[in-house]
Amino acid sequence: MRVDVVTIFPEYLRALDLSLPGKAQRSGLLDLRVHDLRDHTHDRHRTVDDTPYGGGAGMVMKPEPWGEALDALDVTGATLVVPTPSGEVFRQATARELSTRERLVFACGRYEGIDARVVEHAAAAGAEVREVSIGDYVLNGGEVAVLAIVEAVVRLLPGFMGNPESLVEESHEDGLLEYPVYTKPASWRGRDVPPVLLSGDHGAVARWRREESLRRTAERRPDLLAETVAPRESDA
Ligand code: ADE
Repeated sequence: MRVDVVTIFPEYLRALDLSLPGKAQRSGLLDLRVHDLRDHTHDRHRTVDDTPYGGGAGMVMKPEPWGEALDALDVTGATLVVPTPSGEVFRQATARELSTRERLVFACGRYEGIDARVVEHAAAAGAEVREVSIGDYVLNGGEVAVLAIVEAVVRLLPGFMGNPESLVEESHEDGLLEYPVYTKPASWRGRDVPPVLLSGDHGAVARWRREESLRRTAERRPDLLAETVAPRESDA
């Protein structure tokens, strides 16, 4: 998968050279290229922002450097991901969808965001535009969101995981939170691993895990339960 990131802070993306995304790059699974938006400015101060039309606080990213940067990358046929707190919520299903794309281009906004004509123009030029939020809170810019999104997407690429089985059971894959996990020793500081996990009864283990998933989800994320379990019950 080819991934381009346009940002005014290229250093932020260095984290993707570490750990598993770094390994994916070295193995050729991920071709990651980071670009400095300011390379597409033409004034002495390398200006990327200006005051908003209509007034108000804060600054807006100017369309010209973005237009040039995206032209240089040729986003036609690519998926342009624009992290913004006003986007669709990024979920595991979004990660799955994006992992099927050949080419992702990320546009990291700062300040109050990017002039709205930039995404309109990219869509008209044939890019699939996805404005996505990683949660209901405000970051200073899209870079941290890109780190999260790229990590979530790249680990789904075929050949990324040593053991693809581990993808199947994790939180959100079946719409539920994952059950609690334990490893050796069986007793630690007076706390014992639930005996069913030591029983060798695979059916009983599977039932216990499903129940724990449901209990956890009901407690922590009842919103997910409404989506996951209700349709199943109505199917029956
Ligand atoms: N940029 C600023 N806040 C953000 C958020 N919550 N998600 C994605 N991008 C953002």
